[in-house]
Amino acid sequence: MKTTEYIELIDKKLDEYMPENIMPEDIFKAMKYTVTLPGKRLRPIMCMEACRIFGGNYEDAIPTACAIEMLHAQTLIHDDLPCMDNDDYRRGKPTNHKVFGEANAVLAGDALLSFAPQIILKNSKNLGCEKLVKIMEEYTQYAGAYGVIAGQVADIEAEKNWRENIFGLEPSKLLDFIHTHKTADLFKLSLRTGAIIAGASEQELEMITEFAQKLGVAFQISDDILDEISTFEEMGKTLGKDKDAGKLTYVTLYGLDEAKNKLSCILKDCYDMINGLGEKSDALVEIIKGMEKRVGL
Ligand code: IPE
Ligand code: IPE
Ligand code: MG
Ligand code: MG
Ligand code: MG
Repeated sequence: MKTTEYIELIDKKLDEYMPENIMPEDIFKAMKYTVTLPGKRLRPIMCMEACRIFGGNYEDAIPTACAIEMLHAQTLIHDDLPCMDNDDYRRGKPTNHKVFGEANAVLAGDALLSFAPQIILKNSKNLGCEKLVKIMEEYTQYAGAYGVIAGQVADIEAEKNWRENIFGLEPSKLLDFIHTHKTADLFKLSLRTGAIIAGASEQELEMITEFAQKLGVAFQISDDILDEISTFEEMGKTLGKDKDAGKLTYVTLYGLDEAKNKLSCILKDCYDMINGLGEKSDALVEIIKGMEKRVGL
């Protein structure tokens, strides 16, 4: 399936799953605002595509895929807050706290964290208890302090003083930790849950996890590069901020050219891994091609 076909389906379901006119309206509006703004929808696409690749019906993965997009939106809302990256634009529009105020943005993020698994539980009863429990295990692992939050904490902690071996890690190891958790973990959640819904074997799960780790790290490297070289029009967010904030990124540590080289090598591995999956995947190839195009590889 093509990414555009998935996106159409995801956008329709996200709109359907997210109510607006419920008391207190402010919170439901704030939640829906960031979730339904146009993003690339990479994570839900990966979830449905993994389900298809491993022989499942991708429609069975729709609630989980949409829930992961809601979780992703939660990470974006909180990432943009003044106490974090302090950003005014996201997906081409003012950030959640700029529209709804800081308190509502914090609460909308909190609300999404539990609203997302609720969507899975309400709409995926057909999967049966065993798969639902496995999906919840994955969600709680990657959404929490072992997952994306660990990455975000390290990212903030490393600002400006990353040369000082934060957490006892030298900068390159710290950077791997940050990228693994703040970004690759949601890629793992997406691809692994899709595979679980399809009934994939342990060996297949291992394979897709390794792929998710590589693609996730590659994706964050590309985001770090784009922060230096892209435009607001292209990315829908204010760029050039990583440098000003003294963030530890691939570009600060290795320089722009070397960051591009490293990205290109990892993406080559990703193509090889897709070929090793045994089932052709137009959508995964399209996702990588999109990254290459944006960065100019
Ligand atoms: C932004 O993710 C956060 C990072 C991990 C760099 P995306 O670039 O996937 O954001 P959207 O969903 O397309 O807006
Ligand atoms: C954010 O990384 C990853 C998240 C968990 C949201 P960035 O802070 O680099 O993402 P952008 O550049 O704001 O999208
Ligand atoms: Mg950040
Ligand atoms: Mg940010
Ligand atoms: Mg960034």
